[in-house]
Amino acid sequence: MKKLLSVAAILLSLSAYSGQQAVADNTPVKVESRVGNVAITDNSPADAIATYPTRGKAIARSFAEQPPLIPHKDSYSITTDKNGCLTCHSWDKAKRMKATPVAKSHVVDDKGTVNGMNYFCVQCHVAQADNKQELVENTFTTK
Ligand code: HEC
Ligand code: HEC
Repeated sequence: MKKLLSVAAILLSLSAYSGQQAVADNTPVKVESRVGNVAITDNSPADAIATYPTRGKAIARSFAEQPPLIPHKDSYSITTDKNGCLTCHSWDKAKRMKATPVAKSHVVDDKGTVNGMNYFCVQCHVAQADNKQELVENTFTTK
């Protein structure tokens, strides 16, 4: 046991030295910001903010069986413990939150327990917004 401990001590002291090799090269590192040579005091214009359809209004569906579009922001977190969407759309809370309860096809019992396959809401439902600027560059033309 004693022998083992001293071997461990030697190994430890060796590893303590290994990180201390001096860097001989003193040439300055050239760092350049990804936005280029812009003075830090310059303000960049704010991005345009997306606007969502009027609160409380559903968007007409375009075809049968379409997952209805989300008329509000969709950045509610969904984890295994808590589903941000269900704080308003679950069967027991929807009425009070003035939201439509999740569809019957999404639940497994008469208490409105959401089916595992329908738990990750934004897999099917997408938010609609009037974006003042392109989210991705688009060069599409019809000609
Ligand atoms: C703060 C409460 C609240 C939260 C949180 C919330 N919603 Fe809503 N949602 C509403 C309200 C109010 C409406 C408008 C009334 C309606 O159509 O249900 C709505 C509408 C919708 C609609 C349209 C329903 C229809 O019949 O056209 C969908 C789909 C939807 N939400 C999905 C979601 C999803 C997915 C999430 C999570 C990313 C979410 N909602 C989070 C309150 C909420
Ligand atoms: C696998 C795709 C899918 C997932 C995941 C999903 N939905 Fe849906 N949802 C649909 C479809 C399709 C419809 C329309 C047909 C129907 O009512 O079943 C719908 C309908 C709805 C409606 C309208 C119900 C009505 O009576 O008009 C609401 C509200 C809704 N979903 C909310 C949610 C919420 C909240 C979640 C997450 C807990 C979710 N959905 C997960 C596909 C999905």
